[in-house]
Amino acid sequence: MSEIKPFIAGNWKMNGTKAEALALVGDLKEKYEALAEKYFEMLVCPPFTLIDTVATQLNGSGIAVGAQTLSALGNGAHTGEISTDLLKDVGASYVIIGHSERRTDQRESNAECKAKAEKAIADNLKVILCIGETQEEKDSGFTIEILTKELTESFPENASAENLVIAYEPIWAIGTGRTPTAQDIEKVHAGIRETLESLIGIDDAAKMRILYGGSVKPSNAGEILHIRNVNGALVGGASLKAEDFWAIAEASNYNKR
Ligand code: 13P
Repeated sequence: MSEIKPFIAGNWKMNGTKAEALALVGDLKEKYEALAEKYFEMLVCPPFTLIDTVATQLNGSGIAVGAQTLSALGNGAHTGEISTDLLKDVGASYVIIGHSERRTDQRESNAECKAKAEKAIADNLKVILCIGETQEEKDSGFTIEILTKELTESFPENASAENLVIAYEPIWAIGTGRTPTAQDIEKVHAGIRETLESLIGIDDAAKMRILYGGSVKPSNAGEILHIRNVNGALVGGASLKAEDFWAIAEASNYNKR
């Protein structure tokens, strides 16, 4: 799908001091601004505590800022929660929903993910919706069926190719250094595209970005980012180092293959 501009997103998870964040995004900003042709889009998703700092630093650079989750509720008496309004106020334009770590640690269900994604989209935030199978599920041989169910049940009714990005993150590949084979990634992404066709129609499905996530690093980014139907990456650990994250982004250049 070379007509879709590659989308390189960093999920910092629960990491980053203010000083580290400023150094990291300072570097990324300088590099992105120096890039004559912006052949990829870049997004960073710091923890809530750093969104304001990071968005201020990146203001006008073209690099977008996102959150890692949000509340499906509106402002009010919800101690500890963060609403769409609060995120937009400090400069976030994206939010990651349904990451497997939240599905596991906070027991977020497909229905909750769907509600959160619908609230985000309704309030003009763009959503990266994550899906992925466990090792056990992979071993069962029903990966596609399992992902189709997860995607369909979490899928926001108000989605379009403009406001929704899908991230396929096999749970067994996250932070493990293991990745699926290129053939497996291609098969799964084709399956996701097909499911999207039935959910929002062929035209929007063709335009929707499907990212791969799970142990993406500079050494494997070139191969992964050029697999059919892979439109970018959602990067964890390697997004915490400017040099590595940048090398991954550069590997997305379709003209270099
Ligand atoms: P790693 O890149 O550290 O494997 O994490 C992937 C991930 O979970 C991104 O959301």
